[in-house]
Amino acid sequence: MLNKEYWQTLNQKQTNLKKKIAQDPWRLAYHLMPETGWMNDPNGLCQFNGTIHFYHQYVPQEAAGGLAPHWGHKTSTDFVSFKEEPVFLSPNHAYDRDGVYSGSAFVENDQIHFFYTGNVKQPGDHDYTYSGREQNTVHVVSNDGFSINKQEVVIPHAAYPSGFTDHIRDPKVFKRGDTYYMILGARTVNNEGKILIYDSTNLSDWHYRGIFFGGMDDFGYMWECPDYFQIDGQDVLLFSPQGIPNQRESFQNRFHSGYIIGQVNWETFTFHESSPFRELDHGFDFYAPQTFSDEQERRILWGWMGLGDTLPEYSNPTVARGWQHAATLPRELQICEGKLLQQPIAELQRLRGKQQHKQIQSPACEQSFQTPTSAYEMIITINQNEPRWQIELLEDTLLDYDGTTLTMSHGPSGYGRKHRRVKIDELKHLHIFVDHSSIEIFLNHGTACLTSRIYPKKRQSAMGLTGFTDCSIDYWPLASE
Ligand code: FRU
Repeated sequence: MLNKEYWQTLNQKQTNLKKKIAQDPWRLAYHLMPETGWMNDPNGLCQFNGTIHFYHQYVPQEAAGGLAPHWGHKTSTDFVSFKEEPVFLSPNHAYDRDGVYSGSAFVENDQIHFFYTGNVKQPGDHDYTYSGREQNTVHVVSNDGFSINKQEVVIPHAAYPSGFTDHIRDPKVFKRGDTYYMILGARTVNNEGKILIYDSTNLSDWHYRGIFFGGMDDFGYMWECPDYFQIDGQDVLLFSPQGIPNQRESFQNRFHSGYIIGQVNWETFTFHESSPFRELDHGFDFYAPQTFSDEQERRILWGWMGLGDTLPEYSNPTVARGWQHAATLPRELQICEGKLLQQPIAELQRLRGKQQHKQIQSPACEQSFQTPTSAYEMIITINQNEPRWQIELLEDTLLDYDGTTLTMSHGPSGYGRKHRRVKIDELKHLHIFVDHSSIEIFLNHGTACLTSRIYPKKRQSAMGLTGFTDCSIDYWPLASE
């Protein structure tokens, strides 16, 4: 369906965008960003015969997005250097003509099985929630992750159960015993978020088994991008709810992503929670994460370092420079004391340049530290509980801790964004990754995270510390190989 003219225009636009992006100092050095144009959710994450495949929602010709997305593709053998690959999936069929939406990968018998949502908007007077939209579940078989051997609609929109709006999407597939399972995010006609479950014995014929999870009252009108996995025998369910009212120290963005821990009853196909819903990240830019198990059987999460439908006071200045959004660092997940811990994966240490170490001991006065580049990693270890401390970073970003809450504030480099907060007791360890226009912070070895984009004008910046009597700083400039 996409004709020669579409691809010629796309290539022409990409050529122009590449020129702009090459000159942009806000380009990211070691995070994954779109080659050109717009990126959103990570898709189809897998490791296949050694190669790590990162696919993503992609509108290569338009930094503002808004057009039917493709699946962009990057590969790596080490999580450190990535290669840009040709676009993998395109909105090329009657069943996906308005977007190859998000989905997952499942590796078995030397093949990758991808499942995605084919989005279709019918012409006419529709709101595209209650009428006018199709979201078909599509299965793609590939022998290598680059070429397509088979592509079939496995659940046409008309076959979804009744009681739902047109929003049913983002299949995640996994296997248990001899059975394959698929979970999908959904919005009911009463505007409640739910997760549906299907099963299959052959990956092509799927049977609806009911609502896998949906028991939380007043918890948003739509749940996107569900993900299910086990760590240490515990069942974890991730999803991205939309429509939860903002609070001062939680649910501060327009949309949210988080997890619950619990137990699945496989007789009734239902997930029973034993923990509250916890947000995975408290910054401005985190949404639609997806996980996979790599060949070392580590559970690895990539999130979208961005957010859709952001608040009107914010404008993203990289749009004028030919691109928008990025992915978070790959984070290894573990469970500790009933909570998920997220840590930057160990391979990232290969990006490290020469280490600098600084010890700060009493008196508690202001200290400053020069960071020679704006792509760096820093670990701050706090040995003494202080009533209050502050860290100034990157021109005008301030981290302020008062013993119970960490507040991250931005000045003009936030482009309209001001504060994000996270409640955290006894903050002892901050692991900070700055990458020209992003900051990703892991608190207390990953019990909480804060990820945001910021757009400083000065490339090199001093950092200042106030209120510490005993802490140490380890600093590494980072460069991708
Ligand atoms: C999440 C999401 C998904 C959808 C995709 C479309 O950001 O809205 O639910 O599949 O983005 O790009």
